[in-house]
Amino acid sequence: MVRKHALISAIVGLSTSTGVLARSYNGQAACTAAAISQPSLFGAEIQSLTVEEVRNRTVPSNGNAFPSNLTVSYCGVNISYTHTGWNDLINVEVWLPLDTWNGRFQGTGGGGWQMSSGAPALASAVDEGYSAARTDGGHPDATASVASASNWALLSPGNINFPLLQDFAAVALSDMAILGKSITKSYYGQKPEYSYWTGCSTGGRQGMMLAQRYPDLYDGILAKAPAINWDSFVVTEYWPQLVMNTLGAYPPPCEIEAFTQAAVAACDELDGLKDGVISDANACAFDPYSIVGKSFSCNGTDESIFTREGAAVVEAAWVGPVDASGKKEWYGLNKDASLAGIANTVVAAANFSARGAPFAISAEYIKYFLTRDPALDLRNITGEDFFRLLQHSRNQFSSIIGTADPDLSLFKSHGGKIITWHGLADELIFPNGTEDYYKRVMAQVADVQDFYRIFEAPGVGHCSGGAGPQPRDDLKALVEWVENGVAPDTLPVVNTTLNGAEPGPGEELPRRKICAWPKKQRYNGGDPLVADSFDCV
Ligand SMILES: *[C@@H]1O[C@H](CO)[C@@H](O)[C@H](O)[C@H]1NC(C)=O
Ligand SMILES: *[C@@H]1O[C@H](CO)[C@@H](O)[C@H](O)[C@H]1NC(C)=O
Ligand SMILES: *[C@@H]1O[C@H](CO)[C@@H](O)[C@H](O)[C@H]1NC(C)=O
Ligand SMILES: *[C@@H]1O[C@H](CO)[C@@H](O)[C@H](O)[C@H]1NC(C)=O
Ligand SMILES: *[C@@H]1O[C@H](CO)[C@@H](O)[C@H](O)[C@H]1NC(C)=O
Ligand SMILES: *[C@@H]1O[C@H](CO)[C@@H](O)[C@H](O)[C@H]1NC(C)=O
Ligand SMILES: *[C@@H]1O[C@H](CO)[C@@H](O)[C@H](O)[C@H]1NC(C)=O
Ligand SMILES: *[C@@H]1O[C@H](CO)[C@@H](O)[C@H](O)[C@H]1NC(C)=O
Repeated sequence: MVRKHALISAIVGLSTSTGVLARSYNGQAACTAAAISQPSLFGAEIQSLTVEEVRNRTVPSNGNAFPSNLTVSYCGVNISYTHTGWNDLINVEVWLPLDTWNGRFQGTGGGGWQMSSGAPALASAVDEGYSAARTDGGHPDATASVASASNWALLSPGNINFPLLQDFAAVALSDMAILGKSITKSYYGQKPEYSYWTGCSTGGRQGMMLAQRYPDLYDGILAKAPAINWDSFVVTEYWPQLVMNTLGAYPPPCEIEAFTQAAVAACDELDGLKDGVISDANACAFDPYSIVGKSFSCNGTDESIFTREGAAVVEAAWVGPVDASGKKEWYGLNKDASLAGIANTVVAAANFSARGAPFAISAEYIKYFLTRDPALDLRNITGEDFFRLLQHSRNQFSSIIGTADPDLSLFKSHGGKIITWHGLADELIFPNGTEDYYKRVMAQVADVQDFYRIFEAPGVGHCSGGAGPQPRDDLKALVEWVENGVAPDTLPVVNTTLNGAEPGPGEELPRRKICAWPKKQRYNGGDPLVADSFDCV
């Protein structure tokens, strides 16, 4: 297929916030199926390619991840393909800014079982001038608001759908980069000069998989709160539930939350600042058993008593799984993290009987991938079963989806850069898992700080939320590093309300420093709303 308008493309230099790139590709190809060449992908058959020009589409915000309603104009290209013989059908969607492409391509990641964050992620990228892509990885319901693996994990009870698992874990990510870049080149008449990955949680894991397994595809990877170490941490998320089942006790959410509040009250000021944030997790020695028998009130109403069982469940969430021989098998959450995700319970309104409410992804992974039995009643898993399942998970799935290969040397020699930030109050993915991985990379690759930096954000929850101020401008920092060689020592934060005080009029950002590990944020006294009151030590 011949592109009709390539010859008249003219490149006009503009300036951007980063001072590089930013061009308007006047006279790019028409946004029509005839003008876009069909890409080729080794091992795959393209089934369809559709093209549609979209002007002034308003894409609604999507909670904290994409907080603005954005109106964008783009050339939309959809490609459906199958891996010959795999019986999968994967849909990739590419959005190409109609007017001002910045010369860059952005791959966008998903969350949970979803491979993509849908239109809001694409709109956010297009709004900043990127051509952008997402993939559904061939999973039914992949873009539904609550995605589940239950409809694709098994071909039949006992038999895992390995092609779709491989698509989810890795393969569809490589495909999407190849297809997205090829479409970008076809439309603008020129390859993207730089390519970036952005994602949090599963999106962060996807970014790390790309760095580990497909090291030439991206120049910059923003892998936030990455769901790496999947085979260990997803099983670990079930540990507090196992402890509840073993004890036959299901402490109400209100009691669990009160334990967290007691820990925050005990440890908040260890960093010199009363702001609801425990910034040095290891300094907080609060013992949940120390308040057993004391009273607390649920939302200011009934007085209740902290129970031993409640303390045991909370400790399980904070310490992580410990086997019969006393060996710690994975990490726990920090004490200012909400336990509503992994130590949740529900009470039946009819009879006040409580039961555990495991985090859905963890429950599905155990049921569909580890026991492969959709009829399994998780409450029947014993402590012994739990550690056997964890071992099985590592043995069978770490190479597929563990995403913890520390050998990033090919990515480094390609010239790529990675920024990860992880909220220390993450309620779903244990921040120590990110630290653990980073240490393993350091043991394997020289001068890791030259191309891969992790930042721990005190008080920040999973991808967003929490009492701590949220990192911001992370993609900007990555672009600066990739294109201008400016490595970030700190990330700025958004000025969320701290200490109940609103930011003063005209006050400038940033207000706190999020430090590149192994440095930690330290408060030095002074105005807690200004960044200079904090150091990285
Ligand atoms: C691509 O797929 C999305 C989601 O299914 C749809 O909304 C859009 O209209 C499609 N675009 C094209 C060009 O087919
Ligand atoms: C899109 O919005 C711009 C700016 O508001 C306006 O000038 C233009 O007419 C709109 N285009 C369409 C097709 O609605
Ligand atoms: C986005 O638009 C909706 C209406 O479509 C509106 O209710 C909402 O407040 C807007 N959100 C923002 C952040 O502007
Ligand atoms: C306390 O009240 C808030 C607001 O009404 C509610 O969202 C929360 O679930 C309650 N907490 C518990 C543990 O009942
Ligand atoms: C995290 O790892 C550190 C050692 O690096 C350890 O002291 C700490 O107990 C761990 N925390 C959790 C919550 O697992
Ligand atoms: C309580 O009610 C729930 C929901 O109706 C039911 O599933 C459960 O079996 C009941 N438990 C007891 C102990 O009766
Ligand atoms: C769970 O265990 C109970 C008691 O051992 C047994 O009756 C029940 O059948 C088991 N349920 C499943 C789904 O295996
Ligand atoms: C951030 O600070 C600016 C300037 O002080 C203020 O206008 C804005 O409302 C603040 N935003 C938040 C979320 O605090």
